Amino acid sequence: MSKIIKIFDTTLRDGEQTPGVNLNIQEKLEIARQLEKVGVDVIEAGFAIASPGDFEAVRTVARNIKGVTIASLSRAVEKDIDRAWEAVKDAERPRIHTFIATSDIHMKYKLKMTEEEVLERAVACVRYAKKYCEDIEFSAEDASRSRDEFLYRIFEEVIKAGATVINIPDTVGYAAPAEFGKLIRGIRENVANINKVDISVHCHNDLGLAVANTLAAMENGATQLECTINGLGERAGNAAMEEVIMGINTRKDFYNITHKIDTTQIYRTSKLVSSLTGVNVQPNKAIVGANAFAHESGIHQHGVMAEKTTYEIMTPESVGLTQNKMILGKLSGRHAFEERLKELGYTTLTSAEIQSAFGKFKSLADKKKEVTDRDIEALIEVEVSEVAEFFELESFQINSGNKVIATSTVNLIRNGEGITEAATGDGPVDAAFNAMERAAGVSVELEAYNLRAVTEGKDALGEVTVRVSKNGKTFVGRGVSTDVIEASVKAYLNAINRAIADFGEGIIKAG
Ligand code: KIV
Ligand code: ZN
Repeated sequence: MSKIIKIFDTTLRDGEQTPGVNLNIQEKLEIARQLEKVGVDVIEAGFAIASPGDFEAVRTVARNIKGVTIASLSRAVEKDIDRAWEAVKDAERPRIHTFIATSDIHMKYKLKMTEEEVLERAVACVRYAKKYCEDIEFSAEDASRSRDEFLYRIFEEVIKAGATVINIPDTVGYAAPAEFGKLIRGIRENVANINKVDISVHCHNDLGLAVANTLAAMENGATQLECTINGLGERAGNAAMEEVIMGINTRKDFYNITHKIDTTQIYRTSKLVSSLTGVNVQPNKAIVGANAFAHESGIHQHGVMAEKTTYEIMTPESVGLTQNKMILGKLSGRHAFEERLKELGYTTLTSAEIQSAFGKFKSLADKKKEVTDRDIEALIEVEVSEVAEFFELESFQINSGNKVIATSTVNLIRNGEGITEAATGDGPVDAAFNAMERAAGVSVELEAYNLRAVTEGKDALGEVTVRVSKNGKTFVGRGVSTDVIEASVKAYLNAINRAIADFGEGIIKAG
């Protein structure tokens, strides 16, 4: 009989600590819904005390997601625990996740506490949290650089105080796989009451070993694996869920472990997280990168044509990558479009979202001969990342060339009234962005601009992601079109609308 492992997803907490990522409540809920669909056991929805926005997001996820444990992080401080409980208490299965550092370096320089003081604080906080909540996870931050004997002691004591999960983070991604596996085995063998709890691991990727360390821990008795979608997270990120899961599945002969993840949802989850966070997936990324199932060399192509398993150790279908079927054209009706959406797994869209996406599909089908599954996915991702449109794009014009200064005129609509502004810029995109800022009366700082072709061919849909900042906060905007300038304009306006949704209409300067 194979053992079953629990998957703890921290995309919404550690993943959101990725530099430049700032998800709003709706976006977090959208990701949480997808994580529920994927089948994770635990969603760490945020760090409730970090900000009112974080608190609201954790509470919203706790109130809306069923059948999954919802956790909030808290330092080992009473006021953090109070706030964490407030945020998760309405969940079907709430969890408080409290942590304190246990390594000499952290205790000496960061906490300025002795081992005895840390132990006392950890036990007191677990006991305090237990008054609220049955399910308590305790993390020994920087465990992989902590003294083994101290870890054994602190874990034994927090379990006595009521912890139900003990977590062993490799906080700075320092461990080597064999060493980390040994640490987990040591904890299993030296903590007297260890059988009462789940043993969790949480690995960072500073040396590119997060997944290897996670799997080594699992081989040595870890029963809960913490990870994020696309490996997002602090610095170099966390163990990527899709890699951990496909490692377990593809090497079932070796690991003999099962889990509750529906792997066919992996690709969609990765795309959703990438589009909402604005963090692109590198093409050669394992499992979900654009090249993960592409065979370039003739020898490989020949092998795959003769027998797929020559060069494919897992099928694209197993992670939810369907073949690009040409399914719809400009004569297709709403019914066929809706059916295709269902086949692609988009089953929770509202009828308004479907109607709006259908409108976009129709205009795309006018411009593009073949509308593929990838195109439809791109349209839907824009649809789910749409925000209240304080400004709508009516039209834009651009005059540009290698011997003229690029000039753009943009027409926006606000509350039914048109606003027209013109500006110059360093190239057509810059000119259009400047004109849009003028028309909206909102200035933002462009931090990142990314353009990618959704499919091949001259008429391919271009997808633009921009990251802008305003008053210290970042906002991601997305736009798709067969015209890359139009996709850029839509993405920039999407980001401006997001900034207004966050700060309020007060940031709009009268023209
Ligand atoms: O990396 C880490 O140590 C953490 C803990 C708070 C679990 O994220
Ligand atoms: Zn972490």
